Amino acid sequence: MWDMTTDPQRWLLAAALTAAYVLLCLVIYLRQRRQCRQLQQQAAALAQGGRPLLLAYASQTGQAQALAEQAAQHLHRAGWAVQLLPLGQVSAAQLQAAKRALFILSTYGEGDAPDNALLFHSRILPSALPLPQLQYGLLALGDSQYQQFCGFGRAVDGWLQAQGAQAWQPRIEVDNISTNPAALAQWQALLVQHLAVQPVQGVEAAEGAEASTAAAPFPLAAPMQTWTLAARQHSNPGSQGGAVYYLELAAPAAQEAIPHWQSGDLVDIYPPALASEQSVAPRSYSIASSAQDGRIHLLVRQTQDAQGRPGLASHWLTQTLALGEPLHLTLRPHPGFRLEDNAQRPLVLIGNGTGLAGLRGHIRQRIQNGEYAHWLLLGERQAAHDQHYGQELQAYLAAGQLAHLDWAFSRDGAGKVYVQDLLRQHAPRLRQWVEQRDAAIYVCGSLQGMAQAVDTTLRDILGSAAVDELLAQGRYRRDVY
Ligand SMILES: Cc1cc2nc3c(=O)[nH]c(=O)nc-3n(C[C@H](O)[C@H](O)[C@H](O)COP(=O)(O)OP(=O)(O)OC[C@H]3O[C@@H](n4cnc5c(N)ncnc54)[C@H](O)[C@@H]3O)c2cc1C
Ligand SMILES: Cc1cc2nc3c(=O)[nH]c(=O)nc-3n(C[C@H](O)[C@H](O)[C@H](O)COP(=O)(O)O)c2cc1C
Repeated sequence: MWDMTTDPQRWLLAAALTAAYVLLCLVIYLRQRRQCRQLQQQAAALAQGGRPLLLAYASQTGQAQALAEQAAQHLHRAGWAVQLLPLGQVSAAQLQAAKRALFILSTYGEGDAPDNALLFHSRILPSALPLPQLQYGLLALGDSQYQQFCGFGRAVDGWLQAQGAQAWQPRIEVDNISTNPAALAQWQALLVQHLAVQPVQGVEAAEGAEASTAAAPFPLAAPMQTWTLAARQHSNPGSQGGAVYYLELAAPAAQEAIPHWQSGDLVDIYPPALASEQSVAPRSYSIASSAQDGRIHLLVRQTQDAQGRPGLASHWLTQTLALGEPLHLTLRPHPGFRLEDNAQRPLVLIGNGTGLAGLRGHIRQRIQNGEYAHWLLLGERQAAHDQHYGQELQAYLAAGQLAHLDWAFSRDGAGKVYVQDLLRQHAPRLRQWVEQRDAAIYVCGSLQGMAQAVDTTLRDILGSAAVDELLAQGRYRRDVY
């Protein structure tokens, strides 16, 4: 038994701490409500006045979405009432009612639909829907290193044509928008010619943007920034898997305020070109820290191809770049993986390998916000070597700042255990968190293998319709690569 203190100073201190905590929660809640209202107001403002135009995007890591948001502003200024929607939220009735539409569609996986278009892919694409009234333009984003180049954009285009919709001009395809932003000139020409958008004169790139964005008629990327490598540590010595390093990047000293990002966002890092005339595509990395941490933390695995040749960016970041040296990056909003409306929900966080990075960003952000209802399920190879941020995670668990921590190690013992097996073991808890506590699910790490198996398992446990509903509500989000 313990005695309750009668010391008034202690009571005062406890009351002050409780009040401060309640105030912090209130500030966070109000800020999120304001952001949500702003988004709703922006969407409502875009849909005001003029002739109606449907603008639908399919985007996994945010590039198609950013382009759609930009185009929506230009179109609204040109007098259109723009209905801006992720493709997965577009209904058959909306398509049949629309006379004009624009589609900005990325491809994911192996020629697949991005997550925010999956419902369109499963419910609308397989059906016949006469659309003879519809005129449209379609911009497909992709990367020709993948076999199914612009596969999803091509599939939607073929379907629209089969329904009798008429394209203003052939589909525009952009091969790797990071290195080829000038390809968007054709897209701008379409908007100017068919939708009376004012041409963008010269370069509109934000101050500080460098060559990669300068030629874009609608510049996409945030300004490039120069950060420095402040710390680096080998996270898994002795592991059978590829070496993983934990990195910390410090903001430019001249910067008055640390550039802001939200947990879930990405950095695009520009590795140095091998030859001076070569242009190298930036590589994306999930940010493992919150903006309040002040530094960008990364978890980077050294990759190599089938011949054993080292991956360009991952080796440069983990081996060549010296402490204190500069590196160029852009901070990339990743709306599909941010907390947004889920900030106050319990979170089921599922990942493998370096996928812990994107999940840790959320955990740190939430702990800083006083939210502790998160359950972390992680897959790696060996308990003895591969527990990235292991001590920190154990400390969160001990302090009650993490509800559950479950590891699956695939190389320990006879039976291989993967993160999807953990989900099956804990199916009752999963159902309770999702069905009774309204939890959201975040998945980060490898697409092949992990994320696909996790998706199948979630559908087995919760039911496919329920998982589709979670997707539609933004309660199932993925940062998988
Ligand atoms: C959204 C997202 C988040 C990511 N987060 C992380 C993370 O947190 N940690 C982490 O370690 N990695 C992460 N990655 C992977 C990372 O971006 C790099 O792909 C990885 O580090 C390998 O890059 P590299 O330059 O070392 O290898 P590369 O030199 O790119 O070679 C690796 C393989 O990719 C192929 N390849 C080469 N160039 C390209 C190209 N331009 N486009 C497509 N394929 C190409 C090569 O054929 C080779 O098989 C993430 C990727 C994405 C898309
Ligand atoms: C994991 C992964 C899978 C991809 N698969 C394809 C593909 O099959 N075909 C293709 O053309 N592009 C593919 N891409 C390239 C993306 O379509 C391209 O980077 C696009 O600009 C991303 O836009 P978003 O940010 O709107 O998702 C893939 C990219 C990633 C990271």
